[in-house]
Amino acid sequence: MARPLISPSILSADFARLGEEVRAIDEAGADWIHVDVMDGHFVPNLTIGPAVVKALRPHTAKPLDVHLMIAPVDPFLTAFADAGADIITFHPEAGPHAHRTVQAIKALGKQAGVSLNPATPAKMLDYLIDEIDLVLVMSVNPGFGGQSFIASQLKKIEAVRKMIDKTGRDIRLQVDGGIDVGTATQAIEAGADVLVAGTATFRGGPQRYAENIAALRGGH
Ligand code: DX5
Ligand code: ZN
Repeated sequence: MARPLISPSILSADFARLGEEVRAIDEAGADWIHVDVMDGHFVPNLTIGPAVVKALRPHTAKPLDVHLMIAPVDPFLTAFADAGADIITFHPEAGPHAHRTVQAIKALGKQAGVSLNPATPAKMLDYLIDEIDLVLVMSVNPGFGGQSFIASQLKKIEAVRKMIDKTGRDIRLQVDGGIDVGTATQAIEAGADVLVAGTATFRGGPQRYAENIAALRGGH
């Protein structure tokens, strides 16, 4: 099994010191930096926008993994691309034309991700999988950090893993929500290769980030 990538969610960082926090998780071994963008409409919480992504860009050379929980999504793609996002992931429920959104992200020269909410079936990917770079399986209902992992999503991770392998393409399978050392192992065994973790990365403060990230990777 390949070494899983760890993408800490900065939602659990100290927002008053966000640049330092991003540098700290970079140095602690994060592979990507996961940025949760929420609009108070598609999900019941408000977080950050393109200005913050732009401000963080000089603090790390690692890929900025931008998770858009906003509707509509299309009007904001250029702003996040210009701000320095490397991977742009959206939810297909955020607009009527998911395929067009994928095309728009690719046209901006960015990697495109599609995120499935806990109630959204893997089938949603049927006519998108050949175009995308990443599938994000949500293992909580999006909106907040610190929620419990929804175990039924393991079956979906297995199903998506099969779909990805069938394409023969290099598509990342990311899982997000309630990831700790135990659920990380379950998600990896089900076929995930990128783990998003907010609470489990940032707990204990900066002196713990490296050991927290290493623990999430487990023996893999
Ligand atoms: C939830 C976000 C997640 C969240 C994960 O809507 O998409 O990225 O920050 O937080 P934890 O790891 O605390 O569940
Ligand atoms: Zn997220």
